[in-house]
Amino acid sequence: MSRIFLTTPIYYVNDVPHIGHAYTTIIADAVARWHRLAGDEVFFLTGTDEHGLKVQRAAEAQGLSPHEHADRTAARFAEAWKLLEISYDDFIRTTEPRHHRAVQSFLQAVHDRGHIELSTYEGLYCVACEAYYNQADLLEGDRCPVHGVPVEFLSEQNYFFRLSRFQQPLLDWYAANPEAVQPEAKRNEALGIIRQGLEDVSITRTSIDWGVRVPWDEDHVFYVWYDALINYATAVGYGLDQERFERWWPAVHHLIGKDILRFHCVYWPALCLAAGIEPPRRISVHGYLLVGGEKMSKTRLNQIAPAELVTDFGVDGLRYHLLRDTPFGPDGDFSYEGMLARYNADLANNLGNLLSRVATVVARKCAGTGPRPRPDSPLAAVAGAAVAEADAAWRRIAPSEALDATWRIVRETNALLEATEPWRAEPGPEVDGVLGDALEALRIVAILACPAIPGACDELWRRIGLAGSPAEAGLSQAQWGGYPGGLEVLRGDPLFPRKQA
Ligand code: MSP
Repeated sequence: MSRIFLTTPIYYVNDVPHIGHAYTTIIADAVARWHRLAGDEVFFLTGTDEHGLKVQRAAEAQGLSPHEHADRTAARFAEAWKLLEISYDDFIRTTEPRHHRAVQSFLQAVHDRGHIELSTYEGLYCVACEAYYNQADLLEGDRCPVHGVPVEFLSEQNYFFRLSRFQQPLLDWYAANPEAVQPEAKRNEALGIIRQGLEDVSITRTSIDWGVRVPWDEDHVFYVWYDALINYATAVGYGLDQERFERWWPAVHHLIGKDILRFHCVYWPALCLAAGIEPPRRISVHGYLLVGGEKMSKTRLNQIAPAELVTDFGVDGLRYHLLRDTPFGPDGDFSYEGMLARYNADLANNLGNLLSRVATVVARKCAGTGPRPRPDSPLAAVAGAAVAEADAAWRRIAPSEALDATWRIVRETNALLEATEPWRAEPGPEVDGVLGDALEALRIVAILACPAIPGACDELWRRIGLAGSPAEAGLSQAQWGGYPGGLEVLRGDPLFPRKQA
């Protein structure tokens, strides 16, 4: 058994939840569920990033105070995550007093250790990124390379984090922890940034109030990113409950999008070193979910709300598609057609039909009572291999591979039924054996797939006559031979009704 503290980025409340946010959050949720299934101790954190100029302006534009605006949008994120069955253990909001306290004690520690200094800063600032840019990194017309919007010239006296001192400590940390940043291309990207040389970074602002006050200088608030990163420490008791903090830190695993690599893979480990705590154990970086080749964003008006897709495909349909069709790491293109094809192929046809078929034949040939599986079934080895593969894949954050391995059991079970045609045969031990094998395969699939499609797997479990849920049974029960037989197998509506284009 191991312990894992899993995090999503905290989402800016200037925007409303779209499937790009849902993508990261669903992956984190499925991985958290997998670890719980395997008996690991899990703390799964998500939340909202509520300070900064961008949020302040979004609130003003709607005639609201930043607080009211943050309350409304945080509630929309919480609602979206409820709809998508996100099983977080904590939802942090950076405006909470616990967070303000933790940020102040964290950065006070960095200050006390001599890594923060006052200096003047002038530069080109992108409000959308909440970050300064070097001229060389800008697009033509002094536009932000991430958002394409014009940057603004700002000049202020700020406190600076002495990041430049951490080039060597970071390189040492990367060398000692070759697995820390994944996939390898992203690790190399982060190393490239560090090797290029690091400049000190401005971490406070006097121009805005909407933030966490600097404890040693009341005129300043911390720049939003330096309060935001610390949310991960706040949530496990940094500065308040040392025992709790040490329980979960550094067993932390951050899932992030590639847009925030620099902050998480360079600045954050450096800040941890500066505060005298260990950097995170792992940071997994994924690509963008694109729509028509472009990143979803408010500015580009190409956002898709999760609720729209849930209406058409159900929660599990959306979860399955995002997990199965967008391998973690590279960019992936979202398309309605792709989602429809995947839904019909894997969920409606392969899994849904398998269950209906088995339930129908059990009703006809076994009076509705599910027989036992055969110990020497050809499916036993298929299932054993899939369990091992799925476990390894979920642990390396490869949901697509994990589900592919799981669906191999579904395909092989369908193939066994096609080959033996129990619906044509006379009732007897042969038919019982095949149907028992199919029920056992379905039981194992329900366990393996429940982190991805929890609702459907609970229903599948119930239909094959089992009590409790696959999540309660746990991964240790995913061994061939567990289906007891003698249970009532229920017929019902299709688990995944087929959809038309
Ligand atoms: N608030 C910061 C993160 C602070 S973490 C200490 C932020 N917020 S964000 O809401 O703009 O984006 C957060 C994350 O949402 C991205 O890193 C990424 O994980 C996810 N995504 C937003 N749009 C996305 C896509 N189109 N595709 C995939 N992920 C996307 O940055």
